[in-house]
Amino acid sequence: MQNLRKDFPILIKNSLVYLDSAATSLKPQQVIESVASYYSEIGATVHRGIYKSSVIATNLYENTRDQVAKFIGANSAREIIFVRNTTEAINLVAYTWGEKNTQEGDEIITTIMEHHSNFVPWQRLAERKKAKLKVVGLTEDGHLDMENFNRLLSKRVKLICVTGVSNVLGTINPITKITQAAKMVGAKVLVDGAQMAPHMKVDVENLGCDFFAFSGHKMLGPTGIGVLWAREELLNGMEPFLSGGGMINEVTVGDTTYADLPLKFEAGTPNIDGVIGLGAAIDYLNKIGMEKVRSYEEKLVEYGTGVIGEVRGVRVFGPEKTNLRGGVISFTVDKIHPHDLASILDEQNIAIRAGHHCCMPLHGKLGVTSTARASFYIYNTKTDVDRLVEGINKAKKILK
Ligand SMILES: Cc1ncc(COP(=O)(O)O)c(C=O)c1O
Repeated sequence: MQNLRKDFPILIKNSLVYLDSAATSLKPQQVIESVASYYSEIGATVHRGIYKSSVIATNLYENTRDQVAKFIGANSAREIIFVRNTTEAINLVAYTWGEKNTQEGDEIITTIMEHHSNFVPWQRLAERKKAKLKVVGLTEDGHLDMENFNRLLSKRVKLICVTGVSNVLGTINPITKITQAAKMVGAKVLVDGAQMAPHMKVDVENLGCDFFAFSGHKMLGPTGIGVLWAREELLNGMEPFLSGGGMINEVTVGDTTYADLPLKFEAGTPNIDGVIGLGAAIDYLNKIGMEKVRSYEEKLVEYGTGVIGEVRGVRVFGPEKTNLRGGVISFTVDKIHPHDLASILDEQNIAIRAGHHCCMPLHGKLGVTSTARASFYIYNTKTDVDRLVEGINKAKKILK
């Protein structure tokens, strides 16, 4: 989407080829201005004051909650909890719902392609509760092994934790199939939406999941703001994660009653500018349309897997069919360490990621310790991909 590159100051200032949006996205001027104007024109906190600027701040904050609810197809804004990021959202579920609803002998299913954020909290919960963590494997072409999943599923499973889109393989997972199967055994499903919400239309009701977590900074918003969506009846049955100011109804020396949803889960002064910036990011994405975002990225990834895959010595990971793949291309180049490749590309002003991308179990399964990863967003173009390919070829010459 060449015409919107002008909205991204970092892309105007230099000739950067930014291919690390799976880590964090760039921010358009509209988002930057919304945050700046909160500080220059409003400045007050939310929910507490009865003076004008606090009322305005509260309205902006709560309007964003409505916007987020619409953006992901939630039934009610009460189901939208603002947290710091996907990691915090998942930990919130592990320490509240998980703590209360799992016990010795229960099982939790996760998958080998999870980000550590959707793996380690479940490993730790299983350890605390003496529950079993079961891990779904992969097929040869980088999809979840659904036969393996079906075999692991039983009435002992309390929770299934799965990513919507893999941040390494790009695989788009069959969430509705998973939620339908989960219902048959009474298990809940948590979807890690970190790589999903920024890149495609999400409807949590259609997905049929129970928890959905994502981060604002990967979808044009500021850092430090994320969202947990959960069904209202589940949130009502969960204990607060953090306690203190803002999340109470009444406090006496002997006891505390909690605020209604969603504030029960938002202790302390929240990330007000982050929420306002997230609202501006959603406005921006809605103007483009999430279907268009997805179809643009699908074309880009199709082009990218083609031309990168043609470079001699390159191994591209993940599904071949680009209709089942998000805007992420992880690859290795024969005899070149991904870190060396990333350094040489950086000299050409091309930013990619090298390492395990917080997916060590997956890399172990793939038989590599690290990969190079190019990830796309709406501001990337075929020219960026071409420059990456040139850069890879140059690195091969230098390191020959
Ligand atoms: C699939 C996936 N899950 C979770 C996360 C964690 O996101 P955050 O660091 O914003 O909590 C990431 C970040 O890269 C991710 O790609």
